[in-house]
Amino acid sequence: MEPSAIEQLRSGGRLPGHVAIIMDGNGRWAGARGLPRYRGHRAGARAVREVIEGAVEAGVPILTLFAFSQENWQRPPREVSALMALLQQYVKKERDELREQGVRVRIFGDLERMESGPRAAIAEIEEATLGGRILQLNLMISYSGRMEIVRAARSLAADVAAGLLDPAHIDEAVFAARLFTGSQPDPDLLIRTSGEQRVSNFMLWQVAYTELHITPTLWPDFTRQDLFEAIIEYQKRERRFGRIGAT
Ligand code: FPP
Repeated sequence: MEPSAIEQLRSGGRLPGHVAIIMDGNGRWAGARGLPRYRGHRAGARAVREVIEGAVEAGVPILTLFAFSQENWQRPPREVSALMALLQQYVKKERDELREQGVRVRIFGDLERMESGPRAAIAEIEEATLGGRILQLNLMISYSGRMEIVRAARSLAADVAAGLLDPAHIDEAVFAARLFTGSQPDPDLLIRTSGEQRVSNFMLWQVAYTELHITPTLWPDFTRQDLFEAIIEYQKRERRFGRIGAT
């Protein structure tokens, strides 16, 4: 009998230490069914639950999900409100289960732009899941990669101006420590659903050597099997980090 995807993955070599996902295609999924866009986002939230469970099952220690970009604020106000309401509902509804699963949730982005309801729910889930040790889940909300880099540069500049930091001591590690992801390792694998071949201002610093996996599957249809298959494909790749291969 063919080994199952999870069996293959367990015997397939090194697991990625950090998987990041650009969850794309909710609108198209809804459109294909003649449904309003928010129904696609709602179905997308179910896929979020599925992929978190899949990451726990596979033993991936860090999962980063791009839930809302800074550019997404420019969508029609109705869609923005629906997405914010969905995020708030999601963190309230899933809080206890995530805590029981050992998931630590952290939310990164320009959260000042959010209204007080979703912001409070976010603070609550971060607090409630602080002790999670099985999976670290980063939810990027109101996030953009360039903004994150500018924010890091500003924080270093402030320390230099205050005489706390010598510019000569700024190296890659010092810079990376000022990003939201701080001391976390860079993603090993970046998955993008719905077939678009773009990075879309996501984790620009961190994806320097990340392996890309682009699938035509629309986000609401993405299952844990799809995650396992992406990891199996990743395990077959040779990563060179700019060096030459082993041959
Ligand atoms: C992209 O699809 C997806 C988003 C802009 C939002 C992602 C949100 C979710 C998956 C649901 C809520 C998240 C959590 C963490 C509960 P799109 O609208 O750009 O789709 P399209 O390109 O087909 O129009």
